[in-house]
Parts: sequence; structure tokens; C-alpha cells
Amino acid sequence: MTTLKQATGPAFTRIYSLGAARGDRVVPNDDLVGPIDSSDEWIRQRTGIETRTRASAGNLAVDLATEAAREAIEKSGVDAASIDLVLIATISNVQQTPSMAAVVADRVGANPAAAYDLNAACAGYAYAVAQADALIRAGAAHYALVIGAEKLSDIVDPTDRSISFLLGDGAGAAVVGPSDEPGISATVWGSDGSKADAVGMNGTLIDFRNGEAAWPTLRQEGQTVFRWAVWEMAKVAQQALEAAGITADDLAAFIPHQANMRIIDEFAKQLKLPEHVAIGRDIATTGNTSAASIPLAAHRLLQEQPELSGGLALQIGFGAGLVFGAQVVRLP
Ligand SMILES: CC(C)(COP(=O)(O)OP(=O)(O)OC[C@H]1O[C@@H](n2cnc3c(N)ncnc32)[C@H](O)[C@@H]1OP(=O)(O)O)[C@@H](O)C(=O)NCCC(=O)NCCS
Repeated sequence: MTTLKQATGPAFTRIYSLGAARGDRVVPNDDLVGPIDSSDEWIRQRTGIETRTRASAGNLAVDLATEAAREAIEKSGVDAASIDLVLIATISNVQQTPSMAAVVADRVGANPAAAYDLNAACAGYAYAVAQADALIRAGAAHYALVIGAEKLSDIVDPTDRSISFLLGDGAGAAVVGPSDEPGISATVWGSDGSKADAVGMNGTLIDFRNGEAAWPTLRQEGQTVFRWAVWEMAKVAQQALEAAGITADDLAAFIPHQANMRIIDEFAKQLKLPEHVAIGRDIATTGNTSAASIPLAAHRLLQEQPELSGGLALQIGFGAGLVFGAQVVRLP
């Protein structure tokens, strides 16, 4: 019998570099409170958000993704032409096909890399990091460009009190490649589609086309999602530490999805994070950018505290479909 050749790859991977792009407009709470009968004070107290970044009309998610990707590639030292896998986690591509990933691969000089988008909502970046790590170690790719990119302002209803005021626009990118030492731990991930109604779009494009519903926008049952995040996701974060074979003491940083500052504080308490662990709090000025929020928060932490470079970061994403993903990575 002829032996079939099957691919194998390097034993370990790591993140080489990060890039970031935020929407070009700074939108303070006061600009949004009118139609939702809210106040700057309420939003600050209940969410920790002071302003959020949103992108102008001509600045699409694919443009934010390209900008973030260019920075990450430049910092990585990897030739763009060597990147053979481009993954974009997003829920806000305005064209269902082609994928943003194929367009960005071409724009940054990585054509003809394998390229596809994936939808795991606010867990998208953690899912994409898990895929890049697994595909490189399996020998399916050598260097991966992983991006979370969202323009959520296109899918908000300014009169909706449940979520609209939380959301911002941005993209964060990472170059992932082979490593001599472990740089990305096992990912703890999953979903619970039985709770699909808790957060997501409020209609379909077919209903919109038929004039039976308005342009679909994001909605959530805030308290349901809040409780799930605080109770269930803290457990997942703990499991990710265990899967990585470390404890909270070993962390340099904790970078959760930027959904609500109160959720971030509650995680820190439940995980008993020591004082020395830096915590991503990018939500205060960027808002919740779904799949982009973790790499954006990581990028900011490294900009503000460059000494974190080389340390371990626990990152956890969670969101619509009640999907979640958490892993420990070595910061570039
Ligand atoms: C949305 C969220 C900020 C609401 O905060 P909350 O503390 O749960 O607020 P509640 O729904 O309990 O409402 C508390 C009060 O504020 C009011 N309120 C609700 N939304 C409001 C708003 N946008 N502005 C002002 N007041 C508001 C309510 O009417 C209620 O008033 P009452 O006490 O007089 O009845 C919060 O639930 C949240 O962040 N949820 C999870 C977000 C998340 O992780 N999303 C994941 C998607 S990625």
C-alpha cells in the first residue's frame, strides 16, 4: 500500500506582534444619551465607558483590519509574502462574500494566503488564535495573520437602551508563527446556542428585504448576559489557567473581552488576581468592539506598560451564541 504523506508542524507557536486601529471619531456618552433616556453618569457608573471610538462613513471594518494588520506585520519582522494564513474574526462584514480576510490578505501583500472570516462574536479573536495555533502546529500554515475587526456602529439602533451605547468600532491584529518555547496555551472554548436569544441581531436580512422588519441591529438581555459572564466565564478563565499549567500569580496581564468594566472587576475578584497583574481596561475609551476588543486592549497595555512584553496574559472572549474562548498567551 502506498504511504500517504500527512503534514506535521512545529511543536510550539507564539504571538510575534500586535497592531491596532480604532475608529477615527471619539464619541462621548453625551452624544448618545438623548434617544435612550440615559445620562453620562449612568453609563460611566454602570459600564465604565467614558467615550467610544467609531469609524466615519467611508472607513469600513475591512479598512480598520488592513491598518491594524499593516502595523502587526511591520512589527513582526515577518515578510508579508511569507504569511500563508489570514483569519478575520468579525460579525460586521457588510458584504457576506467575499471574505474580509481575502481582501486584507491581498492588500497587505500576503496574496495568495489561505484566507477566511469566522464568526464567534466577541469570542472571535480567541477562536482565531486557537485556530492559527492549531493550524501552524499541524503543518497547515507557517505564519498566520489573525485579526478581530468590527464596525458595530453600522448595526446599532440609536434608540436601543440595551446595548447600542456600549458599542465601538476598531480592529486588532496579531502575527502568529512558530516558536522554540510554548507561547499559546490550550484554548478552553465552547458555546450554548440554547441561549441564542440572549444577545444577537434582532432580525434577518430577508425580513428586512420583505419590509417586515427594520434594518437588523444588535440587542441583548443585559442582565442575563451580565450574570452569565460573571458566573460562568470566571470559571472558564480559571479552567484556562489550569489548562495552561499556571496560576494567577504567574500572570503579567489579564485581558478579558471589553464588555463592561463591572464584569472586568468581578473577574479580577473571582480569579483573585494579585496586585501585580495588569488588567486591560480599554473599554473606558474604546467601548465594546466585539472581536477586536481583546487585541486592542492588549495593544494598549503594551503601549502603556512595555515592561509587560514577554509576560503571560490570560485572555477570554465571550458573546453572542453564548460562545466563549480563553487561553494564556505570551505577550510579544
Ligand atoms: C446592559 C447593562 C450595562 C445594563 O446594566 P444593568 O446594571 O444590568 O442595568 P439593569 O438592566 O439592571 O437596569 C437598571 C436600571 O437602569 C435602567 N436602565 C437600563 N438601561 C439603561 C440605559 N441605557 N440608560 C439609563 N438607564 C438604563 C433600567 O430601566 C433600570 O431602572 P430601574 O432600576 O428604575 O428599574 C449590563 O447589563 C451589561 O453590561 N450587560 C452585559 C453586557 C455584555 O457583556 N454584553 C455582551 C455582548 S458582547
